[in-house]
Amino acid sequence: MENVYKAVKVSEHVYWVGAVDWGIRDFHGYYTSRGTTYNAYLIMADKITLIDAVKKPFTDEMLARISSVTNPNKVDYIVSNHGEMDHSGALPSLIHRIKPEKVFCSKMGIKCLEAHFHRNWDLTPVKEGETLSLGNLTLSFLATPMLHWPESIFTLLAEDMVLFSQDAFGMHLAAGELFADRLDDTVLEYEAKKYFANILLPYSPRITKLMRKTADLIDKIAIIAPDHGPIWRGSNTAIIDYYAEWADQKPGNKALVVFDTMWQSTEKMARAVGEGISTGDTDVRILPLRATHRSDIVTELLDAGALAVGSPTINNQLYPTVADLLCYLKGLKPQNKIGAAFGSYGWSGEAVKHINQDLQAMKVELVNEGLGVQYVPDQESLAQCYTLGEDIAVKLKSIV
Ligand code: FEO
Repeated sequence: MENVYKAVKVSEHVYWVGAVDWGIRDFHGYYTSRGTTYNAYLIMADKITLIDAVKKPFTDEMLARISSVTNPNKVDYIVSNHGEMDHSGALPSLIHRIKPEKVFCSKMGIKCLEAHFHRNWDLTPVKEGETLSLGNLTLSFLATPMLHWPESIFTLLAEDMVLFSQDAFGMHLAAGELFADRLDDTVLEYEAKKYFANILLPYSPRITKLMRKTADLIDKIAIIAPDHGPIWRGSNTAIIDYYAEWADQKPGNKALVVFDTMWQSTEKMARAVGEGISTGDTDVRILPLRATHRSDIVTELLDAGALAVGSPTINNQLYPTVADLLCYLKGLKPQNKIGAAFGSYGWSGEAVKHINQDLQAMKVELVNEGLGVQYVPDQESLAQCYTLGEDIAVKLKSIV
């Protein structure tokens, strides 16, 4: 039977040989509502080279795509830009099967792959600025530590000016089209923003530095080939501009009111806080946690300037979904936000205190000490919520 999985030509010497994962919805806690791709690239040089691989279940699909261009046993080199298992999971069976002459990665990459797979591989380290001859073509390597793992590198194919950027400039988006210029701009912007907010946000200062350091190079790049989602080519520089903007984390005149509720009391408070915020001509988004995934909240937070968090108190603690969100946010370290806490309680009311502590741990500037309301808010309590919203709007105006 004919092989149904084909490679897709990306440039004169490069083919996409990855896999599309249409069904994935949970990527280590990130809601991948549109699926994803695991991009791998085959360079048809004198030394045939594979850049990155795919998640383990897609190994055969990748091999089939390689087979549509060449016999996989003819692959001479493998370059592992990033060791996370969505790009390295196929390596054990791939290395076993094709027995490449060499496998290249960063020095940290060696440790990473060894600790993942515990094989006796003879991996070859590459350094920042080092070049590798493929005979008629040349690769060079750029160290990008903590973008987003310690071992991460970019690889450049100079002759085609293709930058293999692993996770950077990527997004979780399964599509029938491989190139960004054939896809809807609104979808691309949202999914790229979601990827940045959920994966790269803590490393924003490093991204800003990298963008400055590589500005001249990036100007000359013809194709950016990430490990997830569509490939950027030609004059499509939107993703570069987005990265510069998102890494800055400038607060916008946008406020999120995020909450969960037990008996709709904290919900009533959230809606009143939102009404108060909207008096400031602020773009307010009221986001119930039972209807909004944490990864979409972080996406909305990226260009917001204010975050109001509401939680009932349950057994002296935060409501679990609120604790989940705050834990997730603390790890992502959003910058330049103001914030406030509110919530209904029965008798002890610790939730506001817990939210304040978590917001302060994130260096969010608190608008005030927060607002707790016992049991069900009356009109007076709702008026206080409204005032809290107004105070948020005023404070936000002063920082944007
Ligand atoms: Fe797509 Fe960090 O792996």
